[in-house]
Amino acid sequence: MMEMETLECKHITKRYDTGKFALRNVSFAIPAKGIFALIGRNGAGKTTLIRMLATQLMPTSGSATINGIDVVDGAEELRNLIACVPQEARAVGWVTPKQFVTSYLLWRGLGYSEASRKAVAALDRLGLWKVKDVQCQKLSGGMKRKVLVAMIVASGAKIIFLDEPTTGLDPISRNELWNMLRKLKDDHFIFLTTHYLEEAERLADIIGILDDGRLRAIGTIDDLRKKVRYPYSIKILSKVHVEKPRNGMIVKGIDENYQVVTTEKEAHELSKRLISKRVRFAMNPLTLDDIFYYIVKKPIEVESYDEEDEW
Ligand SMILES: Nc1ncnc2c1ncn2[C@@H]1O[C@H](COP(=O)(O)OP(=O)(O)O)[C@@H](O)[C@H]1O
Ligand SMILES: [Mg+2]
Repeated sequence: MMEMETLECKHITKRYDTGKFALRNVSFAIPAKGIFALIGRNGAGKTTLIRMLATQLMPTSGSATINGIDVVDGAEELRNLIACVPQEARAVGWVTPKQFVTSYLLWRGLGYSEASRKAVAALDRLGLWKVKDVQCQKLSGGMKRKVLVAMIVASGAKIIFLDEPTTGLDPISRNELWNMLRKLKDDHFIFLTTHYLEEAERLADIIGILDDGRLRAIGTIDDLRKKVRYPYSIKILSKVHVEKPRNGMIVKGIDENYQVVTTEKEAHELSKRLISKRVRFAMNPLTLDDIFYYIVKKPIEVESYDEEDEW
């Protein structure tokens, strides 16, 4: 069947009782394999979408299917295939990872010996063997998150939803969790949300950008890059006069510095002129941060950058 290994949303809209539209007419179809990252600022609607796909929340209108199964009509069937770690999930402090994962499996309907065997196997697979009998409250923040991932891996679900799995983690723990997810993606479909753009860039096969309930862009990092016409950025760090490039624009970027975005060729020419004028600048291909900024916020464009007077 065509729908196999696909996640598809058709005109999904969610309006909460308060009248707030958390999702507005979101439509997309992606392969349900590898890693998909949904990025967006706080309040963009990420949790609302994940809860709807994980069969925890009803859409106001529109529909969604995972591998051809409708998230509303097929919710019962789908629940055996999916597992979800909610944004606010925490491992219980006074139990051990083994006890924690085992109780989750019991709750999902397994018998005790099977639950306990599968819990230990998942903890082993995710490198938590040594700490399986240590109280969760004695583990580092990164380890605690791994216990949550072990919990859903143990369930055998091949479709995994992770709502902001790395928020609040230090860079080292975050990297460890990324490595764990990279290993899991071979035999799981991982749908995660994040507001770390770098995380999406480093980890995801496909990235969706959600803003104010609207899906603003979706695709591979290269697809997203193409949405911004000019692939190179030159950030001007000292005061100087710069004319608008023939192909490109001058905009005020994320960090309030003026940025010339242009073609590789013109960026190269401009950089030579800037060097000869001893202007401080930084040139690089557009990062996902830049792209996100261009897609979500329409940056202010100027005709020329001119601050020589203050020089
Ligand atoms: N239960 C709710 N009732 C009313 N409004 C809600 C509810 N949950 C979320 N919202 C609102 O919907 C919008 C999207 O929220 P959410 O999906 O949590 O975004 P994100 O996860 O991207 O931060 C926000 O404006 C939020 O305040
Ligand atoms: Mg959220």
